[in-house]
This record gives sequence, structure tokens and C-alpha cells, in this order.
Amino acid sequence: MGFTIRRHQPDDWATVWPLLRDTFASGDTYAFAPDSTEAEIHRAWIEAPQSTWVSVDEDDGTLLGTYILKPNQPGLGGHVCNCGYVVAPAARGRGIASAMCAHSQDEARARGFRAMQFNLVVSTNDGAVRLWQKLGFAIVSTLPGAFRHAQRGYVDAYVMFKTLVD
Ligand SMILES: CC(C)(COP(=O)(O)OP(=O)(O)OC[C@H]1O[C@@H](n2cnc3c(N)ncnc32)[C@H](O)[C@@H]1OP(=O)(O)O)[C@@H](O)C(=O)NCCC(=O)NCCS
Repeated sequence: MGFTIRRHQPDDWATVWPLLRDTFASGDTYAFAPDSTEAEIHRAWIEAPQSTWVSVDEDDGTLLGTYILKPNQPGLGGHVCNCGYVVAPAARGRGIASAMCAHSQDEARARGFRAMQFNLVVSTNDGAVRLWQKLGFAIVSTLPGAFRHAQRGYVDAYVMFKTLVD
């Protein structure tokens, strides 16, 4: 089963929101409050980023995943971008995040970004940490107890970084 990565369209929100709501409600991967409202997450995922993307099944259009791309800092830090990725539970382990991350790096380079930084990769999110390392991101620092995990309490978080230019 193939998939396509394309820009988020307003109609996609009907399936993107439940995926984000359920992901953030778990309180184990993103800092968004587990009870964030739809309006708050719409601002964070659709309105604030420079671009929002979805990965869909190319046969029936089912939502498989989504990612955002934005500058990590304003002004003089604006040449480093930041991304966030979520894959639907039923679609995990099929390379969707790998494809979206490769896509986001191409997109970032095309927009003139020189590096990509993840600010708060939860240290207990083993799959994500391993995946980003495999894709060339380095753990450049460990933030002690920086994430309040819904089940485990205060756990470390990593800053991960990849240079996108030679
Ligand atoms: C992390 C996440 C984006 C990975 O998405 P995915 O589409 O399943 O990832 P891929 O299929 O591209 O995975 C590729 C590799 O990562 C590894 N991996 C991914 N998730 C894993 C997990 N939960 N446990 C162990 N390994 C995992 C796979 O082993 C795979 O490696 P391989 O190709 O060598 O076998 C997805 O699990 C998710 O949306 N999680 C919730 C939100 C989240 O944590 N986002 C990232 C925040 S930093």
C-alpha cells in the first residue's frame, strides 16, 4: 500500500485533530497539555507553523500521519527549523515517519533552512529517539527532568540536531 505526502487542506482537519488529540492525551511524547482544546491545537499545528503536511494512503485517502515545519527561533535563529511528526497508531512501523522526516528535510532545504532542531524529544520515547538517530540527528544535550511524563513523572528530554547543508 503506497502513500503520498502533501500539504494539509482544511478538510483534513476532521481526521488530523482526533489523531493529535489522542496522541497528546497520552502525555508521553509531546509537551502539549493532555487536555488541550481543539482550538489550541489548531493554532499550534495549523496556524503557527510555516507549513503543515499530511501523509495519506494513495488508494483511499486515509490519513496516515502529519508533520509541521517552522523556524525554531525568530530573526537571527530563524535559519534553523523545527518539526513535529505524528503517525496514526495503525500505520506505525511502515516507514511513514521516516518518509515524512526525509520529506521535511528536503522541504526545509528548499526554504533555505540550514539545520533542523528538535527541542524536547522525550528520553523514554525509545522508538522516536532511535529513529531520529538513524536519520542523522545527534543528541546535543540532555535536559534533566524537563518532561513531566503522564505515567512516569519527571523524565529527561533531549535536544536533537542535524545540519542540512555541507
Ligand atoms: C515516533 C513515530 C513518529 C514513528 O513513526 P513510524 O511511522 O512508526 O516510524 P517508522 O516506521 O518510519 O520507523 C522507522 C524506524 O523506527 C523504529 N521505531 C519506530 N517506532 C518505534 C517504536 N515505538 N519502538 C521501537 N522502534 C520504533 C522502527 O524500528 C524503525 O526502524 P527500522 O526501519 O530499522 O525497523 C510514531 O511512533 C508516533 O507518531 N509516535 C507518537 C508521536 C511521537 O512520538 N512523535 C515523535 C516525537 S519526537
